Amino acid sequence: MPAACIGVPQKVPAIVARDSRISGFYRLPLVERRRAVADVAGVDFDELVQSLDQGGLDAALADKIVENVLGTYGLPFGVALNARLNGKDRLMPMVVEEPSVIAAASNAARIVRNAGGFQAEVSEALMTAQIQLTDVADPVAAADRLSGRTLELLAMAAEAVPGLVARGGGPRSLEVRDLGDGMLVVHVYIDCKDAMGANLANCVAEALGCEVAREAGGRLGLRILSNLCDRRLVRVRCAARAEDLRARPEDGSTPPLDGTEVVDGIVQASRFAERDPYRAATHNKGIMNGVDSVVVATGNDYRAVEAGAHAFAARSGRYRPLATWRRDGDLLTGELVMPLALGIVGGTLRVHPAARLALKLAQVSSADDLAMLAASAGLASNLAALRALATEGIQRGHMSLHARSVATAAGAVNDEVDRVASALAAIRAFDLAAARRILKELRGV
Ligand code: MEV
Repeated sequence: MPAACIGVPQKVPAIVARDSRISGFYRLPLVERRRAVADVAGVDFDELVQSLDQGGLDAALADKIVENVLGTYGLPFGVALNARLNGKDRLMPMVVEEPSVIAAASNAARIVRNAGGFQAEVSEALMTAQIQLTDVADPVAAADRLSGRTLELLAMAAEAVPGLVARGGGPRSLEVRDLGDGMLVVHVYIDCKDAMGANLANCVAEALGCEVAREAGGRLGLRILSNLCDRRLVRVRCAARAEDLRARPEDGSTPPLDGTEVVDGIVQASRFAERDPYRAATHNKGIMNGVDSVVVATGNDYRAVEAGAHAFAARSGRYRPLATWRRDGDLLTGELVMPLALGIVGGTLRVHPAARLALKLAQVSSADDLAMLAASAGLASNLAALRALATEGIQRGHMSLHARSVATAAGAVNDEVDRVASALAAIRAFDLAAARRILKELRGV
């Protein structure tokens, strides 16, 4: 069996975050923030610092992961706070370049927490391996013969992934689909346990391919996993109290809205996405802000996640929102359902020190657990975006955070960054020239 098919189990920390709320966290200097998170997650402070050095990956290690390496490419690594998932406090590690994503997820998680937190489940966790057959003379008879040999074929498939079978996973069922014009495709559904499962599914597809083609009397085509892993769905639900959603813009730029008006605005935003694929794409982008940030932080394959999410969103023939929102009395309720194939074992990125740190900070106990956490980050991001859009609009909050990047680009350092950013926000100008001018004035030059 190829080495790539073997997942190396990682140690799972037994600790549980004491509290995902750390008051005044964003105001702490970086070193204090690191201390606070290490303390809350029960991670050694030095380990945390070393894991994040050089973006968590040095060039020598990067050189072992992909080809033609010249160096590494850093992105901000942060944590969203306040999340409570299935009754437990959790930190949500996030890697993302977009300002406001982490702050917005933290704010929404705080609102959701007041109404009980996120409730999530993964119903079944099966990856799909596809075997394509072409030139099948009698597809109906071939499908019958293949179905009749299901147990035998599953046993053959299990032999291809003995490590997975030893860990309690393995091929579970088989399905034959007739795509027309003599093309059959055989799906093998595999429980990949804590692995993402791409290599495992590919192993199974390649191991069965020849026998399946012989039995069907067809020509063997592709043997590869499907990223539309609709047998690996995660469902997360949450509620928010109307009183926690009310909006009172300090600068009076938009009228204040009471909580139920905001709830209705968010429900209308959801209905907009349900009716219009143009809006659904942006609505889902807001969800993926949260999901992908956790996926990247934990060293998972975000391209696979994106491909699966959007294929699933379009499964009815029309592109639809992955999360929807409704009003229930004085509560806003939300639900997100999406495929999420994530792993905490195997895969080269699991040697990535920052990805390993992320798994520890999030106290992830299984791949399903990670999927529930990432999905919660997605639902939190969606709630934050819709709340902003239904009230003061996205730009004010977004731009005041963007101002920090502009201030940095203008050359501001240390506390100058916040001072220049506040000055930019006050005059509602976010261009580099304005930032340079303010910085000059600040320095008295
Ligand atoms: C920006 O990254 C994401 C949003 O556009 C999402 C949305 O419109 O729902 C704000």
